[in-house]
Amino acid sequence: MADMENKDQTDFVFNDENEKKFRKTLEQYPTKMAALLPTLWLAMDQKGYLTDEILEYVADRLELSPVHVYAVAEFYTMFLRNPPGKYHLQLCRNLTCTICGSEDLIAHLAETYGIFPGETTEDGLFSLELVECLGSCGTAPVMRVNDRYCENLTAEKLDKIIEGCKAGVEPEEEPMGVH
Ligand code: FES
Repeated sequence: MADMENKDQTDFVFNDENEKKFRKTLEQYPTKMAALLPTLWLAMDQKGYLTDEILEYVADRLELSPVHVYAVAEFYTMFLRNPPGKYHLQLCRNLTCTICGSEDLIAHLAETYGIFPGETTEDGLFSLELVECLGSCGTAPVMRVNDRYCENLTAEKLDKIIEGCKAGVEPEEEPMGVH
């Protein structure tokens, strides 16, 4: 967070569309503090991840302490602090998915593909994040690939997903389970 005090070093600003959304967000929330999460989400939607400079920008726009904004962004796993891979994998590690085999899948990703939690592969293709309940326990184990849910995962199904992504094909969104 070395640059948090130097406002001149950030060149991030909301684009026109997001500036409009930001202003609308401010109208929808009673305080600027209450608008923090949607504003962070907007910034991440624009950049893909949240740098210290972007957090400083958000703090400035909302007249909040940069340290507070930083703490919130670090707390929620949905906010990415580093550039994700082209395919950002979010594998659930919560209770139901763990019981149904998510730990084996994490090991499979590491051993077979060199995809490790918290890291992006050298070719920039995959990043893996272990997340809490994705709200689809009925179809555990569950993983998101970018915005798509992949459910009832097995090692074989995971292989198909990874090989498909390598070939440039994102997995199909499955019929909704119990999200
Ligand atoms: S525990 Fe994994 S989706 Fe709920």
